[in-house]
Amino acid sequence: MSLFTWNEKYSVHVEAMDNQHKKLFELITRLHEAMSAGKGNAELEEILRGLKEYTTTHFADEEKYMESFKYTGLAEQKNQHQVFIDKIGGYEKDLGEKRFGLSIEVLNFLKDWLINHIQTTDAKYTEIFHTNGLK
Ligand SMILES: [Fe+2]
Repeated sequence: MSLFTWNEKYSVHVEAMDNQHKKLFELITRLHEAMSAGKGNAELEEILRGLKEYTTTHFADEEKYMESFKYTGLAEQKNQHQVFIDKIGGYEKDLGEKRFGLSIEVLNFLKDWLINHIQTTDAKYTEIFHTNGLK
């Protein structure tokens, strides 16, 4: 089992959001496996593209629900989502300059995101999503 296999401790207890989060785990696993095979930098371009696509759909969905549920944590979420988008954009630029060690930096950033965003910030929206009938 990969180090980055989704498991219950990452659940926000909203099925649609868990399913979207699982896609992020798949991308992290792909990056990790590529790195283990010594192909991290070679695969990075495609993985960054995947992350960008992921954010445009997933963040928009999360924010749409939060807006309609009048969730008080929306501003914090939007800020953190923007940080993620900016980071990925920055990594894409760095990729053009073939910066050494970039895949490790990206992997560490993503690992941190799982803990500090999904497990911490996202976990706080479970209650209001449930109150609004989304489980
Ligand atoms: Fe989020």
